[in-house]
Amino acid sequence: VMQRTFSIIKPDAVKRNLIGKIVQRFEDNDLRVIAAKMVRLSTEQAEAFYAEHKGRDFYEPLIAYMVSAPIVVQVLEGEDAIAKNRQIIGVTDPAKAEPNTIRADYALSVRENSVHGSDSEESAAREIAFFFADDEICCRD
Ligand code: CMP
Repeated sequence: VMQRTFSIIKPDAVKRNLIGKIVQRFEDNDLRVIAAKMVRLSTEQAEAFYAEHKGRDFYEPLIAYMVSAPIVVQVLEGEDAIAKNRQIIGVTDPAKAEPNTIRADYALSVRENSVHGSDSEESAAREIAFFFADDEICCRD
């Protein structure tokens, strides 16, 4: 089924000049970039985006990290895009991520894990709407 998912290239990856290498992984796996922009999150935006994690021990340092440098937010489209993107990314902790995943190859730690990908259709819809207006997502024929 054709789906859209939401992706973040996180501060650690942007700082290390890995944007192109990461987008290449998506394109090599038949995910299409249908919206993209670079943003520097405010603390308020980061807190709102990660509201579900408020109160967890990793929440405060996560917010500080997410505002520490620009990020690249994208909408990716493709067959089973949500599951496919998560496969390409690997699990949260890079030490446990499958070989050849983005996190296994590039992530620095469980926090500085280079990328984010939506984990469900509901979060994909919420996360896309958080960053993109409908007219910023490109139509293709
Ligand atoms: P992500 O799963 O994309 O969204 C939540 C983020 O919180 C996660 O990526 C990590 O960046 C961070 N995170 C999750 N669990 C931990 C943890 N145990 N320690 C530090 N950071 C974490």
